[in-house]
Amino acid sequence: MSVGRRRVKLLGILMMVNVFIYLIVEVSKSSNQEKNAKGEVIIPKEKFWKISEPPAAYWNREQEKLNRMYNPILNMFANQTGDALGSSNISHLNYCEPDLKVTSIVAGFNSLPDRFKDFLLYLRCRNYSLLIDQPNKCAKKPFLLLAIKSLTSHFARRQAIRESWGRETHGGNHTVVRVFLLGQTPPEDNHPDLSYMLKYESEKHQDILLWNYRDTFFNLSLKEVLFLRWMSSSCPDAEFIFKGDDDVFVNTHHILNYLNSLSQKKAKDLFIGDVIHNAGPHRNKKLKYYIPEVVYTGVYPPYAGGGGFLLSGSLALRLYNVTDRVLLYPIDDVYTGMCLQKLGLVPEKHDGFKTFDIEEKNKNNICSYLNLMLVHSRKPQEMIDIWSRLQNVHLKC
Ligand SMILES: *[C@@H]1O[C@H](CO)[C@@H](O)[C@H](O)[C@H]1NC(C)=O
Ligand SMILES: *[C@@H]1O[C@H](CO)[C@@H](O)[C@H](O)[C@H]1NC(C)=O
Ligand SMILES: *[C@@H]1O[C@H](CO)[C@@H](O)[C@H](O)[C@H]1NC(C)=O
Ligand SMILES: *[C@@H]1O[C@H](CO)[C@@H](O)[C@H](O)[C@H]1NC(C)=O
Ligand SMILES: *[C@@H]1O[C@H](CO)[C@@H](O)[C@H](O)[C@H]1NC(C)=O
Ligand SMILES: *[C@@H]1O[C@H](CO)[C@@H](O)[C@H](O)[C@H]1NC(C)=O
Repeated sequence: MSVGRRRVKLLGILMMVNVFIYLIVEVSKSSNQEKNAKGEVIIPKEKFWKISEPPAAYWNREQEKLNRMYNPILNMFANQTGDALGSSNISHLNYCEPDLKVTSIVAGFNSLPDRFKDFLLYLRCRNYSLLIDQPNKCAKKPFLLLAIKSLTSHFARRQAIRESWGRETHGGNHTVVRVFLLGQTPPEDNHPDLSYMLKYESEKHQDILLWNYRDTFFNLSLKEVLFLRWMSSSCPDAEFIFKGDDDVFVNTHHILNYLNSLSQKKAKDLFIGDVIHNAGPHRNKKLKYYIPEVVYTGVYPPYAGGGGFLLSGSLALRLYNVTDRVLLYPIDDVYTGMCLQKLGLVPEKHDGFKTFDIEEKNKNNICSYLNLMLVHSRKPQEMIDIWSRLQNVHLKC
């Protein structure tokens, strides 16, 4: 059979299939649709959707209220449905008194571990202010902004990062700048007073951002929101952002090469890391990531492990824009996944993010570090060692 005849035959088959589908649709339309005697379609007088039962877990229920608040259609009807959720009249953004209602609403509140009590009591406050700022950090548009989560006492980790993978560079169009993200470690929590040392460090290196909230594991989603707020106002032109922990080694060269090789389309929505799908809250009380059923139920959206991920500046701005619509969550990388989901985006898994380390036998081989983005975890001395060995121009791999 010639190519032409084959094409004609294929066209014929396609047309027949189309006609067939049309017939099925028409037949099912006429059988499903209710019509009155005159053959007119009856438009239902009642609402034809049902508002789902309010979820039982506190976070889910409060988030559902937010979803309705930001959904004009559901919001319009919320009040006619005998809406079991009610609408919340307290702000979820700047209500900074302890929200004592949770003590009675959340079942068994008094027997929850303290970190949950603190989290729930202050869930509705996020308007913390900057105590140390770096307003001119991005005076020259950065190609890559390194945003590193740290704690006041981690002086050595920060210094090792400055001397290795976190170096600022201002050559060509590859400006790389660095900020460390810190909250407070107050004396009420029995922290030693390191504020003078931090002040000195900040004046010397000009890379510290410090906000006036308590720097705890469960407040890391707050750190995320506050960083995005800072980025949106003080560094909105950053082309790309690396955000991660202060105990990882990052191959900044490799990241820059990768970013340079991206197409414009891919670069715009970039969000890559060690992505976890179909995870859910841990229910084992002994785990760091334990979340009780009364707080959250359901699966987590896909999210990139908080050890480190890479995203575009344009996406970071959009991400900040939706943070108001998502209640803070005790686990920051899950929170970021929830915000991405609100944007209709899914983070992409990239094999170069070794958040569970590399094989023991390869740890000492410098060549193992050549083509990775990040590896967790490395001590300050190890960071400096790996970095200096990577600079060796005679490296043969
Ligand atoms: C519904 O809202 C109106 C005003 O918008 C108010 O007058 C009415 O009391 C509300 N109904 C209920 C059941 O809350
Ligand atoms: C919320 O509404 C309740 C009663 O409707 C009122 O007692 C309370 O003061 C309000 N809270 C705020 C923060 O406005
Ligand atoms: C947040 O805003 C509220 C309302 O404007 C204010 O009362 C509160 O002190 C602010 N909190 C912080 C931590 O700035
Ligand atoms: C500047 O960036 C562009 C694309 O991002 C790249 O093609 C070019 O080589 C870079 N120039 C320099 C001097 O690095
Ligand atoms: C988060 O920070 C706020 C403000 O300092 C504090 O009141 C709250 O207890 C902290 N939450 C947790 C879970 O540590
Ligand atoms: C933020 O959201 C508003 C409205 O929801 C929209 O008009 C604006 O363009 C958004 N900004 C960004 C940077 O996405």
